[in-house]
Amino acid sequence: MSRIKSVSAIEILDSRGRPTLLANCELSDGKLGRASVPSGASTGSAEALELRDRDPARYAGLGCLKAAENVSQEINRAIAGRDFASQEALDRCLIDLDGTDNKSRLGANAILSVSMAFARAQAAQRGLELHRHFADIAGTVPRLPKPMINLYSGGLHAGRQVAIQDVQVVVPGASTIQETLTIVSDVFRAAAKKLHENYNMRLLTADEGGLAPPFASSQEMFLEAVRAIEAAGYKPFDEVALTVDVAASHFFEDGFYHLDGERLDRMSMVNRIDEWRREFPIVSVEDGMDEADWDGWSALYERLRGTAMILGDDLLCTNPLRIRRAIDEKAADSLLLKVNQIGTLTEAAQALELASAAGWKVVVSARSGETEDDWLADLAVGWAGDYIKVGSITQSERLAKYNRLLQLEHYEGLGF
Ligand code: PGA
Ligand code: ZN
Repeated sequence: MSRIKSVSAIEILDSRGRPTLLANCELSDGKLGRASVPSGASTGSAEALELRDRDPARYAGLGCLKAAENVSQEINRAIAGRDFASQEALDRCLIDLDGTDNKSRLGANAILSVSMAFARAQAAQRGLELHRHFADIAGTVPRLPKPMINLYSGGLHAGRQVAIQDVQVVVPGASTIQETLTIVSDVFRAAAKKLHENYNMRLLTADEGGLAPPFASSQEMFLEAVRAIEAAGYKPFDEVALTVDVAASHFFEDGFYHLDGERLDRMSMVNRIDEWRREFPIVSVEDGMDEADWDGWSALYERLRGTAMILGDDLLCTNPLRIRRAIDEKAADSLLLKVNQIGTLTEAAQALELASAAGWKVVVSARSGETEDDWLADLAVGWAGDYIKVGSITQSERLAKYNRLLQLEHYEGLGF
């Protein structure tokens, strides 16, 4: 049993310099848990609502004072002095208190900050490393996820110089996180060198720390990624493969996919993705189709199944109802799990369980707006994610997670 003494939250800043929340949860035995929440830019429309002040006089309307107050006042009044036997008991109480379908009254940011700070406080109370406590919440056995590391960015994360959002690298044959990071660093340096030669550009990075040169097209982005892998001395596909976040919802309009100046209908988009997959060493395609184009997703599934992961982010929004539909309609075969899309650890654990039971792969993911908090690494390990997606290896809010994985690898003796 964990009796809560008090919860409170403050407004802090994320990696884009935008406000987000940090919550503090104190248990009556004096154990403390603190956690901050991330924030997306390329959000799905079915995501739980992130409460912002909308006061144009502060942070262009993005302030989180109201959400912080909801934690320190209303949520605190509702849970202080109460015993919660489990994470689920607390999360159910928060969900009921909010009373809306998308957590829009108290804010999913407010609710998640409390959910996560409570988990940290409970882990402290139990004397457990956070990943072990997360594993107990979901009934999983901890293991290290394979990193999916951002190399190039476009789309909403890089001023839309090309339509697609992210090209990432994975190192299928690496046997440790340490080896993965060494190899990815070689590829990143080779890519940065080519950036200077080809585009006369300094190493400027996008929201998730990836490189964002003015590529002429998405095709060129893939081609340059393959060249960087080769220039670093690795064999594309076997030694270093690519994954892509197409983020197609963000260039779908009036029934067409507006891809780098072209206007593609549903089947042309499916064909285009399949061409990319045949031409380049792509092993996973995230959000290949618009979040509402369920028929498009089924067509893409039919085309790609068994050749690359068909990974749902905006389509699924870590929402068990949408995941159920995607399983039934054969619309995807992998889940991008972002806890703040749904707003509590308990609902995210349900999403994980559904996806795992269907034999799906799970990618535990950060957001484009992150903080130095590293709970995501523990979550990916504790929930035994197949992959972790955190962004590039250049910014501290990303490195906090990679460095935590290295700690878990070395001090906890965990492996893939
Ligand atoms: P977001 O992007 O955090 O801006 O939503 C990440 C992603 O699309 O995977
Ligand atoms: Zn995405």
